[in-house]
Amino acid sequence: MNQGGQLTSEQQIEALQQQLVEAQRLAALGELVGTTTHEFNNVLMTILNYAKLGLRHKDEPTRDKALTKILEASQRAEKITNSVLGLARNRKQEFAPTKLAEIIDQSLVLLEREMQKYRVAVRCEFAEVPPVRAIGNQIQQVLLNLMTNARQAMPNGGELLIRLTHDVAAEAVDLTVRDSGVGIPREQLTKIFDRYYSTKDGPDETGKGGTGVGLSACKDIVDAHQGRFRVESTVGKGTAFTVRLPVFKEQCSATTALPISKLGVPVQTAKVTK
Ligand SMILES: Nc1ncnc2c1ncn2[C@@H]1O[C@H](COP(=O)(O)OP(=O)(O)OP(=O)(O)O)[C@@H](O)[C@H]1O
Ligand SMILES: [Mg+2]
Repeated sequence: MNQGGQLTSEQQIEALQQQLVEAQRLAALGELVGTTTHEFNNVLMTILNYAKLGLRHKDEPTRDKALTKILEASQRAEKITNSVLGLARNRKQEFAPTKLAEIIDQSLVLLEREMQKYRVAVRCEFAEVPPVRAIGNQIQQVLLNLMTNARQAMPNGGELLIRLTHDVAAEAVDLTVRDSGVGIPREQLTKIFDRYYSTKDGPDETGKGGTGVGLSACKDIVDAHQGRFRVESTVGKGTAFTVRLPVFKEQCSATTALPISKLGVPVQTAKVTK
């Protein structure tokens, strides 16, 4: 604040950056409402149909089958709600020990149908990794952005690989989202984290893409986690985004998130192979 009680331009930038991260969170949430309403409807139809089946057929095997199906569908419904609530709830902006595998599972629940629809096969390779120091719903937002970008890079289907590895020496966990899509030309690679940079015409039929804020918001979040991004891409073969996050250690447990602009120069490495 300057003497006149007005915000300095640095403070204004900081406030705007925080608003942008918040707007991105809300946009991601809005997109998910569409996906999940649809998902929820599917689950409800399953429950309804099996309840009717169980009532019609009195024999034990059919009733057991119906009840099992109802149970499975309800568990899926519960998972969907939990995933959305994770994003919706304005959880305390505090770093906590975070299990990335759980966040990946929750994010996949939300995008599962979309991946199927676009013929994207999802493969997970999770090594044993320790919890990282993170704000869970922010990392979920990063994942949803990366997975949506990956899906959009594979208009004719392909494979999405999500991998977790532990770098013991660096006390860090690497989370990789790799697609077998179109790839990113070398000259574009330096721009993809720029705010409003997009090569997409506009939102696709799921209402996603085209504003160019996805990756810039991801980078802000990863910077605030004192993490780093790494991108490897081969045109025509695919792209891998790796987010490196520090392993959670007791002594840093209670730290509150720092404003993004206070965290200094963002670390980002970019590598391209052609
Ligand atoms: N997995 C990927 N494969 C190929 N290109 C990608 C990939 N991820 C990002 N890009 C490129 O980076 C650009 C910026 O991505 P970003 O997520 O920031 O914006 P967007 O997806 O275009 O729009 P939105 O803000 O709605 O996410 C994309 O337009 C695309 O050109
Ligand atoms: Mg995007």
